[in-house]
Amino acid sequence: MSTLLHLDASARRRSISRELSAAFAGAWRARNPDGDYRYRDLAADPVPFIGEAWTELCDAVLALPSTDPERLGELARTPEQAAAWEIVRPLLAELLAADVILIGTPMYNYSIPASLKAWLDQVTFPRMSLGERRFVVTTARGGTYAPGAPKAAYDYQERFMRDFFAGHFAVSDTVFVHAELANSRQDPALAHRRAEHDASYTLALATARDLAEEY
Ligand SMILES: Cc1cc2nc3c(=O)[nH]c(=O)nc-3n(C[C@H](O)[C@H](O)[C@H](O)COP(=O)(O)O)c2cc1C
Repeated sequence: MSTLLHLDASARRRSISRELSAAFAGAWRARNPDGDYRYRDLAADPVPFIGEAWTELCDAVLALPSTDPERLGELARTPEQAAAWEIVRPLLAELLAADVILIGTPMYNYSIPASLKAWLDQVTFPRMSLGERRFVVTTARGGTYAPGAPKAAYDYQERFMRDFFAGHFAVSDTVFVHAELANSRQDPALAHRRAEHDASYTLALATARDLAEEY
């Protein structure tokens, strides 16, 4: 039985990255009727930023040659560290239980929302390989960062996640599905690019749906 962990991070309820992640999740659930599906809305139900006690737990992990991530709580030495672990525990457990991690996220300020970064900070510990797991990221961005676009090099959203998942989690095949030029829906200065957005959005929806067939 396969397990899908589905995260959304857009501050908007009516959000394109949510629509794309829902397209993948819907197709995945239809294909895996016995699969385990977990959903977490990081915007509606934000995880707190890490605090000092979390960093103390992390230092304790660093001092060891290797650690079972499910047993990090045993390293807690103070009530504050135990409380920090109680925040991490369910987040880490659902991440480790997943075979597929699906993240729907907007581009904010060339990168990812603080809500998603807060989750990542909470669940990431030294020497934590997630190599057996697969990551799919659906995104929406106001402009375009497609190959050849003038701002392609400013895409720290995909680059950050791709490099971080590969460099720290040993997951080298993260798949990204982007809807470009979303601001053409609202911004008169981008209205002339609305057809490009519509094409990108339609393709992204179909790609997200089709991709689920492979997971
Ligand atoms: C706080 C904020 C920052 C944004 N920063 C960028 C940006 O740096 N580049 C960009 O192309 N679009 C940017 N946008 C536009 C969003 O990427 C766009 O609205 C997208 O549709 C958001 O995804 P969503 O529809 O899933 O919420 C920003 C939007 C917000 C609200």
